Amino acid sequence: MMRARTHQLGALIFAGLSRKRKGAAMATNLYELIGGRSKVQQTVALFYDRVLVDPRLRPFFENVNMDGLRARQSMFLTMLLGGSRTYGGREIQEAHAGARALGLNDSHFDLLMYHFRVALNESDVGDETIEEILSLLEGTRKDVLGA
Ligand code: HEM
Repeated sequence: MMRARTHQLGALIFAGLSRKRKGAAMATNLYELIGGRSKVQQTVALFYDRVLVDPRLRPFFENVNMDGLRARQSMFLTMLLGGSRTYGGREIQEAHAGARALGLNDSHFDLLMYHFRVALNESDVGDETIEEILSLLEGTRKDVLGA
């Protein structure tokens, strides 16, 4: 009797621990949670499709090689979401010097965040996860704007 009980208790503790571990792993790696490489690429593609038809944002991207940008943005996002540590692009502050010279400000950043939100939603990323990802992106605002 005593032994069976100990066993049960052990099983319960084990189940609790593994659930916790699983939960922690999911929370620390948003990249895996949303579906990895293909999901990131899909979202980034949807995102720039939207940005390029927005007349308030389009002028910033007029002379930009969009295939290269999509690739570097996917890499950056992968790093931001914990999927990898390698990002081969320029520092974020430096990469936006040209856009700042064209008048980049908070309102453009807000628009970009909006388009990212819609793109994540169209990629079937859950609402809570979208909030987490947007708050990570929000963390780049100062660098992007050079403040
Ligand atoms: C969430 C905020 C943003 C993030 C995380 C972000 C990220 C990036 C990354 C990773 C690159 C590639 C860097 C490289 O070429 O090595 C890039 C380039 C660029 N970004 Fe952003 N960006 C953000 C906001 C903006 C905004 C608000 C604008 C303008 C409306 C913008 C316009 C550009 C342009 C025009 C380039 C290409 C620059 C060039 O090739 O000369 N970005 N961005």
